[in-house]
Amino acid sequence: MKKINVTVVRSAGEQEYAVPVHEGMSVMDVLDYIYSELDPTLAYFSHEACRQTACGKCLVKVNGKNCLACGTPCGESDLHIAPWSDRVVRDLLCE
Ligand code: FES
Repeated sequence: MKKINVTVVRSAGEQEYAVPVHEGMSVMDVLDYIYSELDPTLAYFSHEACRQTACGKCLVKVNGKNCLACGTPCGESDLHIAPWSDRVVRDLLCE
């Protein structure tokens, strides 16, 4: 399985993770993988009941562009994930 490097801009600075990806995986799936397999201290918006670009709350900045994590394919290239706004609560969670 292909692994990509994912750089996440967190409150304490940037952190890198190696994440195995497969076809059909979203940026939200990448964040879920990091949280469940690598680092349970990562803060990001997760909403089990949505995950279909309905609530609009999982905004993150991926490679410099704001997008909904649940509706954005992660692709097979390295990713840079940052908070979408300056009003950061913690890590990727914004007000
Ligand atoms: S989880 Fe609701 S829009 Fe992504």
